[in-house]
Amino acid sequence: PIKENASMVVFGASGDLAKKKTFPALFSLFKDGRLSSDLVIVGYARSKIEPNDFIERITQFIKIDDNDSETKQKLEQFKKMCTYYRGSYDGVDSFQGLNNHLLEREGDREERNRVFYLALPPDVFVSVSTQLKQQCYPQKGAARLIIEKPFGFDLDSARDLQSKLNPLFDENEIYRIDHYLGKEMVQNLTHLRFCNPVISHLWNKESISNVQITFKEPIGTEGRGGYFDTSTIVRDIVQNHLVQVLSLIAMEPPTSLAAGDLRDAKVQALRRTRLGDLKDVVFGQYVKSKDGKRPGYLDDDTVPEGSKCPTYSAIPFFVDNDRWDGVPFLLKAGKAMDVGKVEVRVQFKPVANGLFKDAHRNELVIRIQPNEAVYFKLDIKQPGISSKPLLTDLDLTYKNRFTNMKLHEAYEALFFDAFAGDQSRFARIDELECAWSLVGPLLEYMEKEKPQPAPYEYGSNGPELLGNFLQKFGYVYDIPD
Ligand code: BG6
Repeated sequence: PIKENASMVVFGASGDLAKKKTFPALFSLFKDGRLSSDLVIVGYARSKIEPNDFIERITQFIKIDDNDSETKQKLEQFKKMCTYYRGSYDGVDSFQGLNNHLLEREGDREERNRVFYLALPPDVFVSVSTQLKQQCYPQKGAARLIIEKPFGFDLDSARDLQSKLNPLFDENEIYRIDHYLGKEMVQNLTHLRFCNPVISHLWNKESISNVQITFKEPIGTEGRGGYFDTSTIVRDIVQNHLVQVLSLIAMEPPTSLAAGDLRDAKVQALRRTRLGDLKDVVFGQYVKSKDGKRPGYLDDDTVPEGSKCPTYSAIPFFVDNDRWDGVPFLLKAGKAMDVGKVEVRVQFKPVANGLFKDAHRNELVIRIQPNEAVYFKLDIKQPGISSKPLLTDLDLTYKNRFTNMKLHEAYEALFFDAFAGDQSRFARIDELECAWSLVGPLLEYMEKEKPQPAPYEYGSNGPELLGNFLQKFGYVYDIPD
């Protein structure tokens, strides 16, 4: 593991991600003593930015209480660890310059452990990686290449990108980010499933009727229309984040929790997973909100006129193995919806003893965000003089149970792992290929047939067709009494 003598270069340092996520996450790790104090951090981008402005920019989202002098002091220390280097994404001179900058900042070191974090447009991944290998690769020490999504646009382009990285960096040096894997409740899926016999014994087609993985965001794609229109909700959310969650829910117990074994188990599950019938897929595109205040997708100037890009999709998948045969995995994702919420909802089969006509379905819900929680819906006898079943829940809401605990941001966990050399929460190339293969027929269908997405209002619960979709796949909506 990299503990000391480490440097990190953040490419794309002038971007939004850098100021909102990357640098706050690095600071938080530093503050908690999880980064060594000799760490050299260099922000790299093409824009001309004065040193002071850079520091101002990357720390503007770091919020510290006025009377927290200890953290303020740490922030001053952290600022001294960060510099900015301006360069191109392909010029030899720029990367020689970067290497000199690093050497100067690193000083005399036994070894140089360098982490290169590429939060860049995909068309410069290869040129940057090539230059890094040629100009900045340490002779003694470790190199790690962390790559932001999107890793490819489809299976062929992902393979093509990989074939260009192959001669440059080994698989064990490449860390492909899916930031969902750094979220507390996604990491928790493995514990929930494999620490608790009560859950693991029920985790199969005998007990489970259907699984929903839902992503809802209350904001639209305003201003990002150019990117989103070719990406679509399928590439932006489903192929990566939701398929990763699916693989953790569906996988067989891995041989161990080591990166190799864990990722083997995920790949095996994905290889058994297939897309349901294309005609069952629901596509939606948001239109103006009911009050007319929020714009429709097509009202955005950055969106091509008449675009049929789905901003919502509900897609059935099946895992064809003994454990899951016939159980639908329903992956639902939408922009501009009523709430922001990401959750996994496992609905169990109905009770079969015939004693209660009005019993409800059991459900295990894992709320990934916001307000992290695990709750189990079950029937009890309605308290009092009544024998009716009452649907209620065993509720493990984190903020109530763990009152003094601060949950980490996804990027903190992932950077920590990358420094520690733990690849278990990064996507291996075969995993990624499986994810692209899985959605491949859907992408092809969208490309060729250009299905008309159903309209739904900005701020609503998605297209009306959703009700039929859920019913068709056996989801029973039990309204609490
Ligand atoms: C990104 C998508 O990968 O994930 C964005 O490109 C989306 O469109 C974001 O908003 C959601 O991440 P989070 O952590 O806010 O759920």
